[in-house]
Amino acid sequence: MTRQIPYVNLQAQFDAERDELMPLIEACLAGGHYVGGEAIAAFEVKAAALCGCDHAVALNSGTDALVFAMLALGIGAGDEVITPPNSFVASTAAVMHIGATPVFVDVRDDQNIDPDLIEAAVTPKTKAIMPVHLTGRIADMAPILEIAARHGLAVIEDAAQSVGSLYDGRPAGSLGTAGCFSAHPLKNLNACGDSGFLTTNDADLAEQVRLLRNHGLVDRDTVTRFGGVSRMDSLQAVILNYRLGRLDEVTAARRRNAARYRELLNSQWVFMPPCRNVEFNTFHTFVIQVDRRDELRDHLTKAGIGTGIHYPVPIHLQPAAEMLGHGHGDFPMCERQAGRILTLPVNQSLNQDDIAYVAERVNDFFASVVD
Ligand SMILES: Cc1ncc(COP(=O)(O)O)c(C=O)c1O
Repeated sequence: MTRQIPYVNLQAQFDAERDELMPLIEACLAGGHYVGGEAIAAFEVKAAALCGCDHAVALNSGTDALVFAMLALGIGAGDEVITPPNSFVASTAAVMHIGATPVFVDVRDDQNIDPDLIEAAVTPKTKAIMPVHLTGRIADMAPILEIAARHGLAVIEDAAQSVGSLYDGRPAGSLGTAGCFSAHPLKNLNACGDSGFLTTNDADLAEQVRLLRNHGLVDRDTVTRFGGVSRMDSLQAVILNYRLGRLDEVTAARRRNAARYRELLNSQWVFMPPCRNVEFNTFHTFVIQVDRRDELRDHLTKAGIGTGIHYPVPIHLQPAAEMLGHGHGDFPMCERQAGRILTLPVNQSLNQDDIAYVAERVNDFFASVVD
């Protein structure tokens, strides 16, 4: 039977935590507090501490964290937000959702927004820069923050993929005006359903987001601004509070797996963006860039190895983005990467032998097809 290396293994994660987690879930269900309450308050304290921020607001998704950050900052119709075109679609969708215009800026070889190209995209309508810390690697924030300060722009970190990552010792979510995190089941810090949160040092922004997540209610009967409903479920907060206690283990396992790939994959065929001194990468994904990507992917699938492509179609080329008027060639680095990127399994349930098996299959493939 072919060995199986799953891309994700949420069952293995739950199996390892079942004995400790089930009593906590049962206590929550028996306690009858399903919305708000202690678990949410505890999560917000822990999440703020993890991200080195004064405030964390528990929400039901990373997408709503992005939407609410912009709404709280007064961004809307007629405004522009600078963001890369190679994120999960939610970054751009959030900008579209509030009626603002996403202004795309191409990326560097590490798949993150290229700070050298940002200045040229700033116009009188620009209100914010939204870098995405893709794959667990924080975007190059020093020049981004400098440009933002010079033009009076907010910086909204899309930190959905980078919980626990550091840039020059500073945590994701603490670098900009607000940090927007997802705790979707596939993320490093994951709930058993949709969840997310926002971090900030701005007390007023945090307060606005608290209102927006709960219909704008300041008390039972008074609405000061119309909001929505995007509260994190108490049950998810119970799960996340427990998993926050194991996040260091998860991060260490992913970093170990990534380091092993870097050691074993043949750099003659496989491009892996170099690690900068300033970064502590949590490897939400481990993305390589290769020629003959689709053939390699088939080869790995036959060897029982699960892979992904994050993301095969850049956002500016999606049918939904047609009204923005972009075409092929507008963001050459992002477009070139879309045909070359392949995400290898790096999840914490894999051991060093599993990683060696994947690396060998990748190297075998290139040895067999390249002269
Ligand atoms: C970069 C990025 N931004 C935003 C999101 C949206 O998060 P959520 O799925 O929690 O709404 C995700 C989730 O996959 C993401 O990867």
